[in-house]
Amino acid sequence: MKAASAPEAQRLPRHIAIIMDGNRRWARARLLPRVLGHHAGMRAVRAVVTAANDIGIPYLTLYSFSSENWRRDPHEVSDIMGLLRRFIREDLAQMHAKNVRLRFIGGRDRVSPDILKMLDDARSMTEANTGLNLTIAFNYGGQDEIVDAVRAIAAEAKSGALDPASITRDTISQFLHTAGVPDPDLVIRTSGEQRLSNFLIWQSAYAEFVFTETLWPEFDKRALQDAIDEFTQRERRYGAGDAA
Ligand code: IPE
Ligand code: IPE
Ligand code: MG
Repeated sequence: MKAASAPEAQRLPRHIAIIMDGNRRWARARLLPRVLGHHAGMRAVRAVVTAANDIGIPYLTLYSFSSENWRRDPHEVSDIMGLLRRFIREDLAQMHAKNVRLRFIGGRDRVSPDILKMLDDARSMTEANTGLNLTIAFNYGGQDEIVDAVRAIAAEAKSGALDPASITRDTISQFLHTAGVPDPDLVIRTSGEQRLSNFLIWQSAYAEFVFTETLWPEFDKRALQDAIDEFTQRERRYGAGDAA
């Protein structure tokens, strides 16, 4: 990794979060079955994890399955679950060797016990790693995440462990699944759609957004670098007016 004092390194986003969209359209355009679109999407995940690691991005979060994606055809859902199992089985050792620290955010409801175990094992195996912090949002929904946080905060307040008047934005952040991970600086969505689809809705309050027409299976190191370059041109103001 470059020294922190290199001028361009200062402007790299610390945390990039990606809504990986367009797998099925990629498959459809090639007259391929949907599952091959998701499979090609998994190859893009590998490429982008490697690229983020090489570029020196400290935090990368990937939206792989939303809490709303259960509404899809059960065959497709089962194909996606199969690919997640495969990803952990085939890639975990290599990610661990590259010092990647893996986290998962999202609900545990509806997820099969064998997958939950794989996710827990992957998390604990890589917990002490100090390289890229990779978070996979799986069975994730931002609104559900906030509901979980409110319930936990309310329970602490009820038990007397927490004074409601002491609740701040930081308190809420600490109760989210992303506790300990900085808010995203850059949110990328592929495939031309321009919405959050329930992704990191609290955490993205001041993120910069880059929307690209590229379908996720075609997203690669070049595309990631282009999005980072666009980010570095942006002026972040946080409500404070012109930087000048
Ligand atoms: C993203 O691609 C992957 C998941 C949401 C699981 P899609 O499956 O949404 O593909 P499109 O957007 O329909 O092309
Ligand atoms: C968002 O994509 C979820 C993921 C990329 C995992 P969708 O394709 O499910 O979102 P909508 O339905 O177009 O909003
Ligand atoms: Mg989609």
